[in-house]
Amino acid sequence: MDNQLMDKLVSLCKRRGYVFPGSEIYGGLANTWDFGPLGVELKNNIKKFWWQTMVWQRDDVVGLDSSIIMNPKVWEASGHVSNFSDPLIDCKNCKSRFRADELMAGKYGDISMKDGKTSCPLCGGELTESRKFNMMFKTFVGPMEDSSSLIYLRPETAQGIFNNFKQVLNVSRKKIPFGIAQIGKAFRNEITPGNFIFRTLEFEQMEMEFFVKPDSDRRWYNYWVSERFDWYLKLGLKKENIRKRPHEKNELAHYAKACTDIEYSFPFASLGEDGRPWGELEGIANRTDYDLSNHMEHSGKDLNYFDEINKASFLPYVIEPSAGMDRMTLAVLIDAYHEEKDENGEIRIVLKINPKIAPIKVAILPLVKNKENIVKLSQKLYQSLRSEFMVDYDEIGSIGRRYRRQDEAGTPYCLTVDFDSLEDKAVTLRDRDTMKQERINISEINDWLRDKLK
Ligand code: GAP
Repeated sequence: MDNQLMDKLVSLCKRRGYVFPGSEIYGGLANTWDFGPLGVELKNNIKKFWWQTMVWQRDDVVGLDSSIIMNPKVWEASGHVSNFSDPLIDCKNCKSRFRADELMAGKYGDISMKDGKTSCPLCGGELTESRKFNMMFKTFVGPMEDSSSLIYLRPETAQGIFNNFKQVLNVSRKKIPFGIAQIGKAFRNEITPGNFIFRTLEFEQMEMEFFVKPDSDRRWYNYWVSERFDWYLKLGLKKENIRKRPHEKNELAHYAKACTDIEYSFPFASLGEDGRPWGELEGIANRTDYDLSNHMEHSGKDLNYFDEINKASFLPYVIEPSAGMDRMTLAVLIDAYHEEKDENGEIRIVLKINPKIAPIKVAILPLVKNKENIVKLSQKLYQSLRSEFMVDYDEIGSIGRRYRRQDEAGTPYCLTVDFDSLEDKAVTLRDRDTMKQERINISEINDWLRDKLK
């Protein structure tokens, strides 16, 4: 997979309504993207799959939806005001902006030394000193724009979970170990955004904070690294395209004792030691009691957990699997993109998305649109399926063209209603991946689909 393929994918996403450039009628706004009719379905399906695994199917995790805007003291306590920053260097000549660590690592090309000073790898111009740049977006509440009304857009959903730890514990009557899961928007004023929806200013996170006894942190950390890796296989990503990568000590976030990234082989990412490109999908971090102890200190509220069995209080440690929704969606799309020969030997583009998360599950295609009986039967089938599944109805163009459209949309199954259907009460079921066709009785379709999408 190469970057040319990224161009093809971006184009397909726009053409089929997965992802559009943001604010397009005004010339766009860099690094903002909108999810179109198919994109929103795909995202919702992935989120639902995450939620089912992380919340519904577990006894030890409950859900939360906390607000994006929080008391600014939260971000002082969490360390984000003082630590959530990247070192930044500008070129005084060509105005390019670099992250200091990436510049020094040679990501933008070789840096040369001129008069004992490093110079811009792009134009050779003079560079500024390294400055700390806080990545939190700031805004104001109410009419006064001063420090008393300053607030931040959350850069991670996790802090809403820590703030609600005690309340959730009380109402859910859970015992440690237990977790709180949340899906929601996060915002970061990134210095080097880009690569389509990989790094954007606004994105969605799927995070779970799992509270454990301090001396059991290693065990739970290993458990969650393995659980989360397996989850991506169930999502349908190819095993050879994902890997686990433990962080080096010098790349750990300010709150973490250990972290393992689950990475995907994004074609645009930096090359790993194995010569393949790898980029982060999710991080599983051991946040220790960093957050709860800081919030306890700053808020003055007791956030200790009382262990009924040992009659002792302690501050739990936290293991956090934190995933990026938009990156996951991108990985699913890249993994699914295929170009191959169709029935007539012509190239077809097909998104082989796992049917369970595909936006449209089935398309109803009446063979002809001007035969009343066929249209009537097709409509009846359409209405009977749509209460349970996301169904498309398409009667425009030749059957071949309609198949191509659904292939590009990633629709796993097409049902063609033809003249025989009027007699035998069966339709042609066409499989997206194998292109095989078989007859299926109309009365069996719901059960068949239910079984396939279980
Ligand atoms: N609460 C921990 C935390 O926020 P992180 O590694 O900074 O950890 C978690 O972010 C995930 O969020 C990342 O693995 C990535 O998938 C996603 N993410 C982070 N910044 C992003 C951005 N600017 N655009 C899109 N996704 C991003």
